[in-house]
Amino acid sequence: MTSLDYFRSGPSGPWRIVSIDGFRGEALPRAERLDIAAEAAQPAEAPCWTLKGVAGHARYATRRELDMLGATQASLGRREATCAALIPIRKSQAWWNLAQDERRVIFEETSHHTAIGTAYLPAVARRLYHCRDLGEPFDFLTWFEFAPEHAAAFDALVAALRATPEWGYVEREVDIRLVWD
Ligand code: HEM
Repeated sequence: MTSLDYFRSGPSGPWRIVSIDGFRGEALPRAERLDIAAEAAQPAEAPCWTLKGVAGHARYATRRELDMLGATQASLGRREATCAALIPIRKSQAWWNLAQDERRVIFEETSHHTAIGTAYLPAVARRLYHCRDLGEPFDFLTWFEFAPEHAAAFDALVAALRATPEWGYVEREVDIRLVWD
């Protein structure tokens, strides 16, 4: 099942934006709050910025990995998961010039992305959106929810992934942290 979602920043929305850091490349403008909606309809107030993406099918995960993720992952919207991160990412042309099997080798056999991430399940719930083919400024929108006591672990996870060869292909990354209040 695929779902097209809109991440709209502005004066209203259930998530309060705590920080916006341009980890690599240009950041996004400061905004107060974030709303995630399935339709493009604009709220009464003009949004500061809107990003959209499709949460759809996995590209690289093997059957074994999908089964493991399905058995271990938590769903979004848990009451205790009042912290979130929205990390939009764009990869370089060199990445997209690779064939799918070459990208898989860098992603997992070399960088161990899923293996690293699995250690943080089920504390961190995640959803991956694709947006390269929608003409968006990013290729992916990554969304994570976790309880405040797991915030330090989430920082360690992000640091571990950023140290991998896969991240050598990341040319723009914005790290947006939010709380539900
Ligand atoms: C893709 C797992 C955390 C960024 C993926 C995929 C898996 C995965 C299985 C591949 C999906 C597919 O087959 O297409 C995990 C797990 C995590 C985690 C278990 C633990 C919570 C993160 C974090 C970031 C991130 C913290 C960002 C800082 C990405 C990106 C992709 C991706 C950008 C798309 C890569 C591509 O298609 O080129 N992740 N991930 N992930 N993840 Fe993670």
